[in-house]
Amino acid sequence: MPFHREPLRIMSSGQVHWVVAVSKKTFQKMIKGKKYCRRPYEIRLKDDKEKLKVFTGEKIKDHVYTSADEYYRCNGSSLILNQTSENLCNIRNGSIDVILTDPPYYDNLIYSDLSAFFYVWIKDRISFGHDDITDKSIFVASDKDKGPEQYVQQLTRVFRECYQKLKDNGIVVFSYHHNKVEAWISLARSIKDSGFVVTNVLPIRSEGNSAYHSSERSIKWDSIIVLRKKETTVPGADICSSDEMLRFCIQELKMKKSDVISFFRSLKLKEYVNHGLNAFHENDPGQFFDTYNKDIINAFENYNSINE
Ligand SMILES: C[S@@+](CC[C@H](N)C(=O)[O-])C[C@H]1O[C@@H](n2cnc3c(N)ncnc32)[C@H](O)[C@@H]1O
Repeated sequence: MPFHREPLRIMSSGQVHWVVAVSKKTFQKMIKGKKYCRRPYEIRLKDDKEKLKVFTGEKIKDHVYTSADEYYRCNGSSLILNQTSENLCNIRNGSIDVILTDPPYYDNLIYSDLSAFFYVWIKDRISFGHDDITDKSIFVASDKDKGPEQYVQQLTRVFRECYQKLKDNGIVVFSYHHNKVEAWISLARSIKDSGFVVTNVLPIRSEGNSAYHSSERSIKWDSIIVLRKKETTVPGADICSSDEMLRFCIQELKMKKSDVISFFRSLKLKEYVNHGLNAFHENDPGQFFDTYNKDIINAFENYNSINE
């Protein structure tokens, strides 16, 4: 079964060691989450190094609905729907303030394969088969008949649904990173075809060491991408020149080259979605998304020679 970073280790005794290790970690995370619900806290910085937990006195406790009809009928506040986001017809149009999401990163991970592991235990409690999960799952893997065009089509349907469900002044916020330019072009096409505009793009340090995406070579910074229905002036967005931004990414944020390239492609995504391609790049969007690659490589050489 092709999941996680390491293969299962089945010992001569018949014990499956790796699965035991993963389950333990997963349960520890769940216990941590439960404890947090009972006594939520905020993290405040005491000084540059020390972090403080500030307990807010709240409790996170709610009735969670799993049917949209019931949720609306009972005026509920939490609803979990276990379904594809390509069809959100059970959510009322124009009713959502914020959509906070994390879409599939092109060909990075095939989540439906990961879910095969858990499916064995949950299959009696859900009303769909594993093939259905794979069909609806969004990712690129040519050996599973999931090409880049299908990725764009599926993701476009998701963003169109988000557009319909969002209030006129609502926002969509999501994270993305990728080292392949095709991944950025596909994402940009999906957003553009949905009608959204990109009003901000910000870098944020992503997952820690234990996460599935992490390895020495993997990208460590996500781009946080903000979408709105109409172009809005966002204070702080676009105040930097590309040179200043490069210096900030390399010297202040200490990004690696692959992180900077990924982040600068997200800045180009904003330009692409909001203003389209110019005639020069019309037949070569890859070149458009890689406009800054040479500058980035030069900047690394310059900063390295300064530091030597
Ligand atoms: C980048 S991951 C998000 C991971 C998540 N932030 C987490 O920490 O577990 C992308 C997610 O999109 C989900 N996904 C794939 N196809 C989907 C679809 N059609 N509708 C809704 N979610 C989908 C995957 O199952 C996966 O959980």
